[in-house]
Amino acid sequence: MAGRLEGKVAIVTGAGRDGNIGVAICEAYLREGARVVGTDFRDEEKAAIVARMGRAGPADAFRYLLHDVTSEADWARVAQETQDAFGGIDILVNNAGISIHAGIEHTSLDDLRKVMAVNHDALFIGMKACLPALKSSVQRFPGGGSIVNNLSMASYMPNAHNIGYHVSKAAGRMLTLCAALEFGPAKIRVNSVHPGLTMTPLIREGLADYVKMGAYEDVDAAEASIAGMGALGISSDPEDTAHAFVYLASDEARFVTGASIYHDGAIGQRY
Ligand SMILES: NC(=O)c1ccc[n+]([C@@H]2O[C@H](COP(=O)([O-])OP(=O)(O)OC[C@H]3O[C@@H](n4cnc5c(N)ncnc54)[C@H](O)[C@@H]3O)[C@@H](O)[C@H]2O)c1
Repeated sequence: MAGRLEGKVAIVTGAGRDGNIGVAICEAYLREGARVVGTDFRDEEKAAIVARMGRAGPADAFRYLLHDVTSEADWARVAQETQDAFGGIDILVNNAGISIHAGIEHTSLDDLRKVMAVNHDALFIGMKACLPALKSSVQRFPGGGSIVNNLSMASYMPNAHNIGYHVSKAAGRMLTLCAALEFGPAKIRVNSVHPGLTMTPLIREGLADYVKMGAYEDVDAAEASIAGMGALGISSDPEDTAHAFVYLASDEARFVTGASIYHDGAIGQRY
């Protein structure tokens, strides 16, 4: 049986840490028959990630590219190398993200700009760089191209202690909506996924810091407490979160654009 993304070509940013959401998306896309370029600005775990992808799909269906998502030159190179390798671009997943935990008082303008550059500006640059290729996706697939931005529950929930992250993710939401209107006539859909607590290495490290500060007894207790703020009382894992990215990238979602999937177990209040 053909996969849900059979023959499509995807770029997934932020796929440089084994166990994170970007890696899970690459793996899920390969299983569904896509050819995938995973990118990141680090390559320490490249060998493990490439080996993992080789178990999810044919070895020649995955490429790993070094890529700083804040660099226009890097985006131009990644867009070109993807087309050279696989003949087009049908799916763009803007997944790379960073956070600097502090409120306005303790955040420098430089730090704010760093977070905005990765969580917001990079989405803008990436969409621009891939647009010409995405426009021709409709010639191969009736549903056309798909852009999926990985935002966060931070895009609709204020937080006194994480200004850059929340503001950049909120801006990413408006960028997604505007792009959905602009690119719709070219048959490119633009949607966002808003994960809640998803247990990646980064999150586990963050929870371990809370434990060191004495806020929780151990990481499991921290996870249970935060997950308990949601209606379902559970956390997600990256593989689970990746399902939402498969749906939005597939032709099953060909009537879906400008949508936000709240993959968060109904944590907190939505504004
Ligand atoms: N894990 C969660 O609970 C959660 C919740 C909501 C949203 N998110 C979002 O999901 C995305 C992935 O998060 P994750 O939990 O897998 O964390 P992660 O830190 O493992 O993934 C982010 C990746 O982005 C890469 N990256 C950072 N800056 C970059 C740059 N300038 N250029 C290229 N790559 C860069 C990092 O190297 C890393 O591999 C992020 O956008 C994050 O905001 C995660």
